[in-house]
Amino acid sequence: MNYKDLANKVIENLPEYVPGKPVEYVAREFGIDPSTIEKMASNENPFGASPKAIKAVKAALAGTNMYPDGAAIALRERLAKFWDLSPEQFFIGNGSNEALMILAQTILNRDSEVIYGDKSFIVYKIATTLAGAKSVTVPMPDFSTDLKAIEAAITAKTRIIFITNPNNPQGTICDPQELLAFAERLPDHVILVLDEAYAEFADGKTPDMRPLIAAGKKIVVARTFSKLYGLAGFRCGYMFGNKEIIALMNRVRQPFNSNLLAQTAGLAAIDDVAFVKKTLAGTKKGIKKLCAGFKKLKLDYVPTYANFILVHIGPDAKEVFVELQRRGLIVRPMGGYDMPEHLRITVGTPKQNERLLAALGEILKR
Ligand SMILES: Cc1ncc(COP(=O)(O)O)c(C=O)c1O
Repeated sequence: MNYKDLANKVIENLPEYVPGKPVEYVAREFGIDPSTIEKMASNENPFGASPKAIKAVKAALAGTNMYPDGAAIALRERLAKFWDLSPEQFFIGNGSNEALMILAQTILNRDSEVIYGDKSFIVYKIATTLAGAKSVTVPMPDFSTDLKAIEAAITAKTRIIFITNPNNPQGTICDPQELLAFAERLPDHVILVLDEAYAEFADGKTPDMRPLIAAGKKIVVARTFSKLYGLAGFRCGYMFGNKEIIALMNRVRQPFNSNLLAQTAGLAAIDDVAFVKKTLAGTKKGIKKLCAGFKKLKLDYVPTYANFILVHIGPDAKEVFVELQRRGLIVRPMGGYDMPEHLRITVGTPKQNERLLAALGEILKR
């Protein structure tokens, strides 16, 4: 018997998650000095990390011989204040990714169905498959979430609906009123998961779900410190909803799933208003610059509400991806999302954006 025969059958056809290519890999592959490489592939924060978080983490380092607070009380209390909810309504995860996985494990079994868009964040498929449940995917016309198609796909077996708002990798959002009405109509046996990893970039255009949660609708919202606050490396994210679902999720998680430095960083970053402002303003400027550049290059792109842009390159997208790497620029190919002609580009610093546009122009001219 080999290991494959011994493995859980549900993972038989599960692809491994492919992240944006790390700088060191590209440096080695193309023989480039890693310090000259710009990564615009994983929607990280190009303006760095929250300075308040870094300062707090440095001070916390001396305490890393002890386990962290498994219940992450300080962070949950601060989040409760921030959101005007109660601490019991928050689940802290090793990234919001973990919260999504734990929710799936808490709710799903072999009889469950999970609905999501066919070109949405790949982790929904992983979470669903690992729980032994069935994925029901609906098409995403015009790069956006089709709420009507999702509603039509609901059956007695549906337990979770994943909606990313703004969407990754498209950068689109749902119409706020339509999304609220959709959430209100959902049957009682379905949990709506709103993955809002990029919501802060959407200029207030993602609806506030707290009144519906308070009214008893089964909605949970996932948020992260990875993007706006620049803490991707710490792995700190969270989910909020009714305290009953959070309590159930706490039964499933590891005892110390959220580490000391992640909790410390998240707690400090919430109050880093200056860094948040800097990131939002820089991202807005970057989007303007990149979109103007794409227009000049006659490249179609999807107008974005996030910190990345989906650009249509054409049949040569893979080659362009490789050529960009040769010039020290890492973006994200979209073959894995069944969009082989597109690249997803994370909005960078002014220098990064300029460098990317110049390289694209040079490659496309050829
Ligand atoms: C849509 C979406 N959800 C969730 C995540 C996970 O974020 P994290 O685990 O870093 O909080 C990402 C990360 O790229 C994402 O794009």
